[in-house]
Amino acid sequence: MDKKQDAIDILKKYNQEHIIKLLEKLDGKRKQELIKQIQTIDFHQITELYNNTKKEIEFKESKIEPLKYLDKAKLTEKQKAKFDELGEKAIKAGEYAVVTMAGGQGTRLGHQGPKGTFKLDVYGKGKYLFEILVENLKEANQQYGITIPWYIMTSRENNAETVAFLERNNYFGYDKKYVTIFTQSELPLVDEDGKLLIGKDYKIKEASDGNGGTYSSLRSSGCLADMKEKGIKWVFIGSVDNVLLKMADVTLLGMAISQKVQIASKSVVKDNPYERVGVFCKMNSHPKVIEYTELPTKMAEQRDRNGELKYGESHIMCNLYTIDAIEKISKETLIYHSAHKKNSYINEDGEEIVPSEPNSYKFESFIFDAFEFFDDIAILRGKREDDFAPVKNKEGVDSPKTAKELYEKFWNKRTNKKNL
Ligand code: UTP
Repeated sequence: MDKKQDAIDILKKYNQEHIIKLLEKLDGKRKQELIKQIQTIDFHQITELYNNTKKEIEFKESKIEPLKYLDKAKLTEKQKAKFDELGEKAIKAGEYAVVTMAGGQGTRLGHQGPKGTFKLDVYGKGKYLFEILVENLKEANQQYGITIPWYIMTSRENNAETVAFLERNNYFGYDKKYVTIFTQSELPLVDEDGKLLIGKDYKIKEASDGNGGTYSSLRSSGCLADMKEKGIKWVFIGSVDNVLLKMADVTLLGMAISQKVQIASKSVVKDNPYERVGVFCKMNSHPKVIEYTELPTKMAEQRDRNGELKYGESHIMCNLYTIDAIEKISKETLIYHSAHKKNSYINEDGEEIVPSEPNSYKFESFIFDAFEFFDDIAILRGKREDDFAPVKNKEGVDSPKTAKELYEKFWNKRTNKKNL
């Protein structure tokens, strides 16, 4: 079978003639690598995803309702003690693992290198985002007398740098035997005419396919099988960039166990009705995070009898799953969203073009789109000042400056108040 001819036939079928031209110019290893890459790409899927960018988003007739939650600060002492005991027992029994999603590009922050290697200017000396996560995990390990297995998801783009950074820093004292680094799946980038972009390495340019790729990547990397072998029953998945993230919250875990749910999540209350965050709701009887762009203003402003926002629970990427839930989701196909982004590429003359305006589409699935595969979710409302200080933007809201302030405020308070 002529692999090169097969590749050319596919490229012709999907109107990617510019890649045929490139293929003709290359020889040796580079040519073989490109042919191999072409064989791995699902051209039909990419064409569909590109075509979808041209369509108006249709909203199906949906019934939206508020979702119930428990407020951690309002639990009775008895209730909290019960949850904490259940959660603690599961962690001590070695049934708990943690996943950190670190495969994002961090484009808004603009830091050179993986986001986890960003140093936040706290307490004079500063701390790396990965270091802050390790400190949080180590504290839990000390408290529960166990080492929690930690899985870190990277992208093909940032994997080598992430591994080198953690090695260089000796995993900030985390026992390396308990750390597994895996790489997430990718999808090709296309330009505004649906043509695949070519990168500097003369390959088709691909990028991580969103944090919703976590589930299938856990499976394809063998991490899910590894977790099962270790007897893990609960998996926490969190982001790399929230410096107040609690990776082993026994109250959240105990609540999930007690309510016998497959998925649970910690929320914080929306700052104001117009804050640009996704909020939890029930849509057509299934849990869902609805983006601020999709929530009608009238609904966003609605308040309940106590004066609280009816749709006020923000999703903060602090999610918990049974191992069976991860297994189930990892076999499902999540919907892809397209993001119009700036991406450099090589043109037909071999020159690198660095665009100043968005020129291409990146396809991403979102972690929360999996919630609707379930009938129920348990939500624990945390507190913004204790649980949520993301580093997203270079300046302004959710920036290193705001994260530093929240982090230091929290830790100044913590010196005389344990176990929040
Ligand atoms: P964001 O969606 O905020 O993206 O990721 P980002 O990459 O950090 O930043 P921008 O949008 O490019 O500025 C939330 C979490 O999901 C992870 C990120 O690393 C972060 O922990 N993520 C995102 C992935 O692991 N993979 C992805 O493909 C996208």
